[in-house]
Amino acid sequence: MSVLNGKNILLGVTGGIAAYKAAFLVRLLVKKGASVKVVMTHSAKEFVTPLTLSTLSKNEVFSSFTNEDKDPDSHREPQWNNHVELALWADLLLIAPATANTLSKMASGTCDNLLLACYLSAKCPVYYAPAMDLDMYKHPTTAETFEKLNSFGNVQIPAAFGELASGLTGQGRMAEPEDIVSFLENDILKNLPLRGKKFLITAGPTYEAIDPVRFIGNHSSGKMGYAIAETAAQLGAEVILISGPVSLKLENDFIKLVRVTSAAEMYKAAHTYFNECNVAILSAAVADYRPSEVAREKIKKKDEDLTLQLTKTKDILSSLGKIKQQQFLVGFALETENEEENAKLKLKKKNLDLIVLNSLRDKGAGFQTDTNKITLIDKDNKTFAFPVKPKKEVAKDILEYIIEQTNA
Ligand code: CTP
Repeated sequence: MSVLNGKNILLGVTGGIAAYKAAFLVRLLVKKGASVKVVMTHSAKEFVTPLTLSTLSKNEVFSSFTNEDKDPDSHREPQWNNHVELALWADLLLIAPATANTLSKMASGTCDNLLLACYLSAKCPVYYAPAMDLDMYKHPTTAETFEKLNSFGNVQIPAAFGELASGLTGQGRMAEPEDIVSFLENDILKNLPLRGKKFLITAGPTYEAIDPVRFIGNHSSGKMGYAIAETAAQLGAEVILISGPVSLKLENDFIKLVRVTSAAEMYKAAHTYFNECNVAILSAAVADYRPSEVAREKIKKKDEDLTLQLTKTKDILSSLGKIKQQQFLVGFALETENEEENAKLKLKKKNLDLIVLNSLRDKGAGFQTDTNKITLIDKDNKTFAFPVKPKKEVAKDILEYIIEQTNA
């Protein structure tokens, strides 16, 4: 899956011959799973039609500050195309092709069209792919413009060398749409905060067999652990997810999924991967006890009472706490009383760096729900309480804390 998947991309198209390539660019970005909205300058419309770009992006194309109704019988008031809204919607602003004229206006803060107003309002990363003739590209003012834009943190996607619209050959051709897309993907990947970090995550319940058809299990859905795994991968981490039996599907194909059933299997898998990881987050609801004997055949009902002898399972989190070196180890605590006190005791006893406490007394927290309410407690007993949030956002809160701690 591309890092562009799910991203909101605002594409600015300016008036150069390479504007016709914007159609291919929109198509490629949409294929990568991005939502694309296009803002064109008026002169760009002479090279490619708004209809082409709106059809490919499946979104309205904007070029003026107001959107007048073309129907002469219509008495509707013109609508305002809110540049601030457009700019804030964007996770990324890409200006391609970017003419010398637009680039110079961007560098000087000129704001005489909708695209420039969006540029000035944008808080997201800005990329620009210059397109101009070779002598314009080499001109000292252009070099100065690039320098200025780069000093603002805007990222240049260098023009390619080749035949130009003038018939001359040199540097100035807009990078090909495929190369622009690869450039964006590589640049985003390079800057992800968890790039180069390996995460081990456990999730879901474990099933402890009683006989060939029955087991002891619990209500864990695995949603919290899966949300952490997906979010860590989105932030650039290499993720190994050890999952108990759940029916959830992973969106990110790059997460290594290791399926297990019992606590013993989860223990073995966790120890297989622990040494190579930087961060381990154990969110699985591991069974604390398993039947001492697993019946070979299905147990038949006979007497009124049936007694099962149970044996403690090995505590995976504790065992990792004992052997951890550089790893940042995170555990979960699901408590029903004396929540903070119990969680702090667990943190110490299991030698953790962080514990995520959820109380079953809180509405919107715990098993099966799509939301959770957590309190993070660190090694210095500092606590950070969060309100009820969707599990994906809870995952972000946990990972943001870990990023802060592990990069410190
Ligand atoms: N855990 C584990 N292996 C086990 C049991 C628990 O790795 N056999 C981990 C869980 O994944 C969780 C943390 O330990 O991160 C807390 O589990 P919990 O069941 O709340 O705590 P326990 O230490 O088992 O104590 P108790 O059940 O008495 O509250």
